[in-house]
Amino acid sequence: MPDALKKVERRYDRWSRFYDLVDSAPLLSGRQREWKRLAVEDLNMSDGHRVLDIGTGSGEILPIIAEKAPDAEIVGVDISKGMLEVASERTRNYENIKLMRENVSSLSFPDNYFDSAIASFAMTTFPDPLAALKEAVRVVRPGGRIVVLDTGKPEKGAARITHRMMTPVARVFGRTHIDRDIMELAAQVEGIKRLKERRHYGGMVYCAVWERE
Ligand SMILES: C[S@@+](CC[C@H](N)C(=O)[O-])C[C@H]1O[C@@H](n2cnc3c(N)ncnc32)[C@H](O)[C@@H]1O
Repeated sequence: MPDALKKVERRYDRWSRFYDLVDSAPLLSGRQREWKRLAVEDLNMSDGHRVLDIGTGSGEILPIIAEKAPDAEIVGVDISKGMLEVASERTRNYENIKLMRENVSSLSFPDNYFDSAIASFAMTTFPDPLAALKEAVRVVRPGGRIVVLDTGKPEKGAARITHRMMTPVARVFGRTHIDRDIMELAAQVEGIKRLKERRHYGGMVYCAVWERE
């Protein structure tokens, strides 16, 4: 396993016990759940949908998907065993949710296996986000959707200043690259068509949707 990935794994193994506590901070959690719910709508699921969540972490989005599409086949993948344990506890009552330890840069699934894929607040943490996006595209069938929800770069105003101040802090303390430009990454990926983009908090959070061609 590459060193950068080992570091990510160790970090999230350590954080796994506290991750949901931080994530459930009063101001943030309601918003996050709402953004996740909207992102799940964008998966455009139909009966028997097969959906992949890359960098599922503690799996918060998995029950949101299951509630929206009760007969969907849902797979959450992550590199951190600690995070997967938390996700497993959270999803123990859902028979249609499966968790797997995988590196999102080289997934074990065949081409076109899923009807859609989602990455929620994970793309900014992947050591190789371009490889992860390419893999998500590879495993989604033509006509299926790829949805990325994450922190982004605001274009103007107070949000831009806040973002500039937060970028080094997030990188040093959270090893999270909130200045990653998803559109620049997506421009390097073949076989996807941009469908839409939604922005929250003046662009500090975005949800981008592509269709696999
Ligand atoms: C910030 S957490 C996001 C968790 C969750 N999706 C959410 O919305 O709260 C990012 C997750 O990505 C995982 N991760 C980072 N790089 C990875 C990789 N290359 N392969 C698999 N998982 C990875 C980490 O282990 C971590 O659990």
